[in-house]
Amino acid sequence: MSERLKGKIALVTGGSRGIGAAVATRFAREGAHVAITYAGNKEAAEKTVSAIEAEGVKGIAIRADASDPGASARAVNETVTALGGLDILVHNAGIADFAPIGEGDFEGFRRQFSINVDGVFAGTQAAANKINDGGRIIVISSVNAHSMPVTGGAVYSATKAAATALVRGWARDLGSRNILVNAIQPGPVDTDLNPADGGFAEVLTPMTALKRYGKPEEIASLAAFLASDEASYITGAAIDIDGGMTV
Ligand SMILES: NC(=O)c1ccc[n+]([C@@H]2O[C@H](COP(=O)([O-])OP(=O)(O)OC[C@H]3O[C@@H](n4cnc5c(N)ncnc54)[C@H](OP(=O)(O)O)[C@@H]3O)[C@@H](O)[C@H]2O)c1
Repeated sequence: MSERLKGKIALVTGGSRGIGAAVATRFAREGAHVAITYAGNKEAAEKTVSAIEAEGVKGIAIRADASDPGASARAVNETVTALGGLDILVHNAGIADFAPIGEGDFEGFRRQFSINVDGVFAGTQAAANKINDGGRIIVISSVNAHSMPVTGGAVYSATKAAATALVRGWARDLGSRNILVNAIQPGPVDTDLNPADGGFAEVLTPMTALKRYGKPEEIASLAAFLASDEASYITGAAIDIDGGMTV
């Protein structure tokens, strides 16, 4: 494995499980010191920190509910204090609650927005003046930002469309400091949120050109590329990584 991120300092939200854990571990393997946030699963967060430290870099876990703007800002500040700066911010924490219109309620609508969008805004707002010039902000959005193949996903889809839209504006806001801001839009990825043998799999798997779910490590591979110098002319982009599901 190359050391493209040697000496960089990263914060990955929702790094205790799934895609976030894979991104955090991959960044560590490429030489970055990595802070992660989690919502409540301390044991899983500690496991990710152990995997980070096993790569010979520093790792910390911060409990920070993405729906709380103060907690998102604190996570940024704690990272800067504990690890000595910030070069890469990955907004990965997210939930997916599916309910057809008429069944879901307003509270559920607000909750999904507060985690998937408010958390992204609050964290970036806190990081904007702290992240080093030449830094990276990566939002784990979803192909559902532009496509919704099943019922009940309107609100999730709207949160991801909003997250991707923020990226475009922030790429303009931060471009003069050479801070690159991009969205990764995964298709189905095998995690607790969307297991490859779970409820959605029967519908989604055949829709992919590759006839399989993605692995968290495959998303982490794209995140590591976007975080590296190799991606130096990519900003404001929304990149689908979906095994050909939406072609
Ligand atoms: N899996 C897919 O098919 C798929 C596809 C497209 C996009 N995505 C996106 O990828 C991201 C990660 O999804 P995943 O599949 O890896 O999910 P996951 O396996 O359910 O893991 C979610 C992670 O986010 C954290 N989290 C959840 N709610 C949080 C909150 N309120 N505040 C802070 N952290 C919170 C969890 O922490 P705890 O461990 O403490 O609960 C966990 O670390 C999400 O944004 C999701 O929308 C996933």
